[in-house]
Amino acid sequence: MKIFILGGTGTIGTGLIRELVTRGYAVTGLSRSKTADQKLIQEGVQPLRGDLGAPEGWADHAVSFDAVIHVADTFDDTMAEIDEHLTTTLISAASQRQSPLRLLYTGGCWLYGATGDQVATEESPFVPLSAFNWMIAGQRKLLSSPHLSCVVLHPAMVYDENGGVFEKFLNNARQGNDFEVWGSDQTRWPLVERSDLARAYAELLDHPELSGHFNVTSQDGVKVGDIISAIAQRYGLPKKMKIRSVEDLVEEYGSWAEGPTIDQQMSSQKLQSLTQWWPRYTDFRTSPLFNRPI
Ligand SMILES: NC(=O)c1ccc[n+]([C@@H]2O[C@H](COP(=O)([O-])OP(=O)(O)OC[C@H]3O[C@@H](n4cnc5c(N)ncnc54)[C@H](OP(=O)(O)O)[C@@H]3O)[C@@H](O)[C@H]2O)c1
Repeated sequence: MKIFILGGTGTIGTGLIRELVTRGYAVTGLSRSKTADQKLIQEGVQPLRGDLGAPEGWADHAVSFDAVIHVADTFDDTMAEIDEHLTTTLISAASQRQSPLRLLYTGGCWLYGATGDQVATEESPFVPLSAFNWMIAGQRKLLSSPHLSCVVLHPAMVYDENGGVFEKFLNNARQGNDFEVWGSDQTRWPLVERSDLARAYAELLDHPELSGHFNVTSQDGVKVGDIISAIAQRYGLPKKMKIRSVEDLVEEYGSWAEGPTIDQQMSSQKLQSLTQWWPRYTDFRTSPLFNRPI
């Protein structure tokens, strides 16, 4: 199978290209720089020069592949506008195909908002942060296009062997600082290890009959305080925390900073019941990150 990936050098994308190349897929990745070219080539991926913001230059080529996977994001003020233009251009290019284009698109757990003691499923309403409001209409457009066979994956908070969403706490530990907690240490995060997430994308490539929303999580909700306890213990440090208020964080970083303060639980029951996917790491303490020398 020939795959075109947007965002192959990112946190999620890096794990994903490894999984796809290991499975023997021929992978081409959009690249906007020499550095990205080199990262992709090292992983066995063919780079194609282009920018997310200028899809006219590469969309016709992208839709000639068996599938396109979108795990890229500019994470700036232009992200809504860029994604809207990109997806519209992709749909228009896909309309020239004989059959619908398989598209795996990335949403995220934050779209469900705070769930508290409820566990979000694909049936739950979306209550996105204002910074991600645009995604809801965009996903509806993709899922209803006759030119696409689309799955929207909603990853939980992603950690990997280098840290991922745990990176800030690991840096606090390495520098001997208090652990900086955004909001409250009682906040629950749904979690997924990057290689487990990569297997979910690959599994959905193997099931072209499936479309719609799919959550990907291997722990429904873990308290931030429990993550910090595990890291403190690993580094032989006391669990001293510095709590920062949501208002303070939004003022400093913008509205997306509310994301890590959302108390959430999310289930991947649908994915597990309709595919062969199962998470290897159902406890983050058993993952490679916690089982290598510090
Ligand atoms: N990480 C998580 O915990 C998580 C959880 C749920 C959902 N998500 C969603 O998953 C998606 C990917 O997240 P991530 O954490 O993997 O992001 P990331 O690490 O920041 O990676 C972003 C990717 O997009 C590429 N990119 C950015 N601007 C570009 C441009 N103008 N032209 C071409 N490529 C461009 C980057 O390429 P360069 O190498 O050139 O910078 C990189 O490959 C996002 O939509 C995010 O909201 C992430």
